[in-house]
Amino acid sequence: MSAVGQPITRLEGRLKVTGGAQYTADVPLTGALHGAIVHSPIANGRTISIDTAAAERAPGVMAVFTYRNMPRIRPIQKPWVHLHPYGQSYLVLQDDQIHYAGQPVALVVADRLDQAAYAGTLITVQYDVKPPVVFNAETALGAFDPPQFLWPVNSSVGNPARGLTDGAVRIERVYTTADRHHNQMEPHATVSTWDARGHLTIFEACQGVFALRDFVSIALEIPPEKVTVISRYVGGGFGGKAYVWPHTLLAIVAARVIQRPVRIQLTRAQMYSMAGHQPATIQTITLAADNTGKLTGIRHDSVSPTSVFDDYIEYAANASRSLWGASGGISTGHKILYTNRNTPTAMRAPHEALGHVATEIAMDELAYAVGVDPVALRLLNDTLLDPYTGRPFSTRAMRRCLTEGAQRFGWNDRNPVPRSMRDGRYLIGQGVAGAIYTHWRWPSKARVVLRSDGSALVESGMQEIGCGTYTVMRQVAADALGLPADKVDVHLGDTRLPASHSAIGSTTMSNAGAGVLLAANAVRDKAIALALTGRDAPFAGATANDVLSVNGGLALGRQTITYSDLLARNRLKVLIGDGNYDPVEEAKGPTAIFSFSALFAEVQVDEELGLVRLSRFLGAYDAGRIINPRTARSQAIGGIIWGVGQALLEQSETDPVMGRFLHRNYSGYLVPSNADIPELEIIFAGEFDPEASPLGTKGMGELTAVAVAPAIVNAVYHATGKRIRDLPVTVEKLL
Ligand code: MOS
Repeated sequence: MSAVGQPITRLEGRLKVTGGAQYTADVPLTGALHGAIVHSPIANGRTISIDTAAAERAPGVMAVFTYRNMPRIRPIQKPWVHLHPYGQSYLVLQDDQIHYAGQPVALVVADRLDQAAYAGTLITVQYDVKPPVVFNAETALGAFDPPQFLWPVNSSVGNPARGLTDGAVRIERVYTTADRHHNQMEPHATVSTWDARGHLTIFEACQGVFALRDFVSIALEIPPEKVTVISRYVGGGFGGKAYVWPHTLLAIVAARVIQRPVRIQLTRAQMYSMAGHQPATIQTITLAADNTGKLTGIRHDSVSPTSVFDDYIEYAANASRSLWGASGGISTGHKILYTNRNTPTAMRAPHEALGHVATEIAMDELAYAVGVDPVALRLLNDTLLDPYTGRPFSTRAMRRCLTEGAQRFGWNDRNPVPRSMRDGRYLIGQGVAGAIYTHWRWPSKARVVLRSDGSALVESGMQEIGCGTYTVMRQVAADALGLPADKVDVHLGDTRLPASHSAIGSTTMSNAGAGVLLAANAVRDKAIALALTGRDAPFAGATANDVLSVNGGLALGRQTITYSDLLARNRLKVLIGDGNYDPVEEAKGPTAIFSFSALFAEVQVDEELGLVRLSRFLGAYDAGRIINPRTARSQAIGGIIWGVGQALLEQSETDPVMGRFLHRNYSGYLVPSNADIPELEIIFAGEFDPEASPLGTKGMGELTAVAVAPAIVNAVYHATGKRIRDLPVTVEKLL
């Protein structure tokens, strides 16, 4: 029986629920010291004096670092590239400047964490304070065209200006989304230790061990072979652990100076200024359509804030490049504004999840303006050619997602008139949105070891960040070798294993998984070769193509041999296969590869209290072939919950005078909890996509967080007749 396609449970599930899985902060390291970071309360200016004398005398303190005594770190090369995966280019404790609230001004290292934290409170700092620049509608007017860092900043296809004037109906709107933080369950943690020969080992809660290794090698000017990074389990990444942040460099350098292991764990409050966030956006969109609702033009522009030292772009307007066709043309653009904050970063479904708020709420507004059903409007504007590049989509099951989703949801029973559906005191609303998500093709290596007991081991330096990566890799290798899934072990998250890309961009299944497939195929082919021509060859004289891998070994017609027998005959302890997946970049391929979804939300609104409750949600997804319907369903559940937070709860407000993020914990920053989430229905509507990956899969994880919020906002409009264009939809906006 094939393992791929089965809803098998997690390889590491028991370890995780019994506390057996060792997360970074759990790593026991003899003699490890604890670091505590002291932060600037001001957002702009410089330090005039820092008095560390009392801290240095405090119990247990081993060292206090400020910019005066911190060793110099090599300035980071811009622009951002995969080899320099910094979270922010500004290095802390290197000068007296203050660029953002929460910037480190000192690091205390002590025997115990409480000692380090207490000593930190004894440090007194005097500041020269300047007013901070914050992001709002007024300051955003000063935004500028940034240099490109991922995709082109501006785009224009066809004649968008004409397309916009040609339309009989025009929707021109501004939508805004809030600053948000990742708030992973597991706070950031790092432990660094140097051995006597100058080899550095870093245990890190991260999404990419090789990215961290290569970056540290550059920043500290040491060869990558002298750096080992280990990250076996991560309690949520969401992009916040994808890049290297200042606390990691502080721990590494402090450990080198003190010659003892140093551990730094961020507190929840520290995570708001130490490790990136999703920047707010102000998006302006114009849709034009003929009288039937067929789009003639789209213009979508987005402005977002960044730090004063990095040109981070939130590519929100990208959402409109390839989602729907528009006969006249489509143009998009992005601007950024330097503000006093730490550098923003990717956060689960960066770019797309923000841009779809504008595109998909505007589509709902257009549907009402034209008088056409919102599902029908999307079917009308579905396209099999990517409007942006002109290439055909490799696969695009948007139509199936919309029609099957609508049918299962019972969309046809919906009365389209706002405020027309009620359940007792609640107004009922139903909304829909479609989504498109980027597919990346990246290289990845893996090794599969077939062992003499007939089991196999998958080894690759990819990451498990909570998605089920161990489990799906086991399934891929099991099928290639004809082994039951529980006969395959998986080792990940270690730079001593074959190099893989980071667990970002929903790329792991399709790319790192392809590396595993190739490695497993390679070891299977070696086994077949032994069966044909090795010692005491059981299938001598046959051809390789006639041999199957099944039931823990190989079969030729009715003849079979187990792998353990085969290895024993050849006096081998192991048989090793290497996989090196090295695909053509998506942008250079013949087809446009994206994943798609259609999402259906139902809300109950209590008008007197201004409360929105999600009562039903259905997601229909085209993410290509599904390797494990259980872990994929879990991804979708997580993505929907993430989108509910974006729609209704999550916002990091900034103090306009002090320039600080205000509520830096789970009581001030609201995320959905169990009671906020009803039964969720998940449908998979995709098919095997050979262009996307040899596994037939497309990006899934982050796709599921895209367009959840607009579906909910559209449902709120249907329920109440109120169009909210500023997320999240909080009580005061509805009353
Ligand atoms: Mo994701 S924001 O690419 O970790």
